[in-house]
Amino acid sequence: MIHQATERLQKVIAARGIASRRKAEEYIRSGRVRVNGKVVTELGVKVSAKDKIEIDGNTIGQAESFVYILLYKPVKVVTTSSDPQGRTTVHDFLSGVETRVYSVGRLDYDTSGLLLLTNDGEMANRLMHPSYGVEKTYHALVAGDVLMESVTQLRRGIVLEGKKTSPAKVKVLGKNASSTKLEISIHEGRNRQVRKMLEQIGHPCLKLTRIRYGPLNLRGLRPGEWRYLTTIEVEKLQAITYDQNH
Ligand code: URA
Repeated sequence: MIHQATERLQKVIAARGIASRRKAEEYIRSGRVRVNGKVVTELGVKVSAKDKIEIDGNTIGQAESFVYILLYKPVKVVTTSSDPQGRTTVHDFLSGVETRVYSVGRLDYDTSGLLLLTNDGEMANRLMHPSYGVEKTYHALVAGDVLMESVTQLRRGIVLEGKKTSPAKVKVLGKNASSTKLEISIHEGRNRQVRKMLEQIGHPCLKLTRIRYGPLNLRGLRPGEWRYLTTIEVEKLQAITYDQNH
């Protein structure tokens, strides 16, 4: 029996960070989802918080217990939940966290810095969606002396794989004989975007750290350390992902 209806099944699965809504619909149609022990293949079915939902026999977590974690990802760590090559993953750092959380976007193996992890799938999807334009700020140490014209190029946008990046904020933080330190803020999240932008202007990235993600920063954490977000931080994220159509 299915308890008092509240939300559509596919929406609940997506909201709990398990899959996108489209993927959740696929799971349902292909008979992989059970509600209170019974396979459900219809998309219209509504469920409440009391209903036990399983995908491939695994029960999915309850919506009420949203968890938001800020990790200072070290270098040489993968952002995925498991790695076929057996490398350290971000989850290896989250000792004591019982809830299954998923990273909001990813940082490269060689990139360190701020990574948000949560089981709030709806918020994660919004934060990653370009239309919400969450600003991400990086400190990049690059090879060579970055001249003003290259800074201007970065600010205006760089053509990567045939598509220009949107304007970036760029500051030169310092220089020494062989390298330049830059602060770069972007709103998009294309694969290896900052590294590719820097490569394109002839200044390969030697070190990359994400220092801010929207209203969040790394203050007080060292590589490998994490903390839960404060209520105020969660509220700030909710405010920037507020959807006027809902
Ligand atoms: N841009 C990159 O090149 N790498 C990251 O990890 C994040 C942004």
